[in-house]
Amino acid sequence: MGSLALIPGHEFCGEVAAYGDEVTSVREGDFVSAEMHVACGKCLLCRTGEAHICQNVKIIGVDVDGAFAEYVVIPESNIWKLDPGIPQEYASILDPLGNAVHTVLAGEIAAKTVAITGCGPIGLFAIAVARAVGAAQVYAIEVNQHRRHVAEQMKADLTLDPSKQDVNAIILERTGGLPYERRLILCGAAGGSPFSA
Ligand SMILES: NC(=O)c1ccc[n+]([C@@H]2O[C@H](COP(=O)([O-])OP(=O)(O)OC[C@H]3O[C@@H](n4cnc5c(N)ncnc54)[C@H](O)[C@@H]3O)[C@@H](O)[C@H]2O)c1
Ligand SMILES: [Zn+2]
Ligand SMILES: [Zn+2]
Repeated sequence: MGSLALIPGHEFCGEVAAYGDEVTSVREGDFVSAEMHVACGKCLLCRTGEAHICQNVKIIGVDVDGAFAEYVVIPESNIWKLDPGIPQEYASILDPLGNAVHTVLAGEIAAKTVAITGCGPIGLFAIAVARAVGAAQVYAIEVNQHRRHVAEQMKADLTLDPSKQDVNAIILERTGGLPYERRLILCGAAGGSPFSA
């Protein structure tokens, strides 16, 4: 018999069903989610505070069996124990939220004017995170109409379509000639954008 396909599932929440002998931070029945990127802990990047770009990273649901199954095995180091009062629909998407949190907090954000290009899941999360940590103005730049609509629901101050609007001119006008101070590129367009923003 050939080997079975890899089980996908990169985001989840669930209850601890069993734990290893040396596990100390969780017990059976605890409500948990997890950071699904398992860094090696040994490479130079891991040992110098850059574990998020570990070159030996194993991604659960991509490199090893994931969470779209009854059970999933996760190292204790990556488990996040949660308050059981957190609704499952939020508790299950903390891994990608973490990407947005890390990106937004990588530079100064409080009281800054922020432009976010690309409003997929990560850009949309980033709008909410920027708001929560005190950004002054958040401009959401996105070519897809539906996603611009969701960006409004996430409380972007203004959504802009770079395929039809002069994004830089509009932002400069609204800020009285001051350019935006933080720019987050979350559109996944490698090597630059086809549009001016
Ligand atoms: N999803 C994840 O868990 C994850 C994890 C790590 C890194 N990332 C990275 O974060 C980035 C965003 O991820 P995502 O899942 O939100 O991607 P996504 O593809 O769902 O969203 C990207 C958005 O950018 C928009 N876009 C593309 N080109 C544009 C342009 N020139 N101007 C304005 N908008 C443009 C698209 O219409 C789309 O809505 C990607 O680079 C991805 O590799 C994602
Ligand atoms: Zn490493
Ligand atoms: Zn992830």
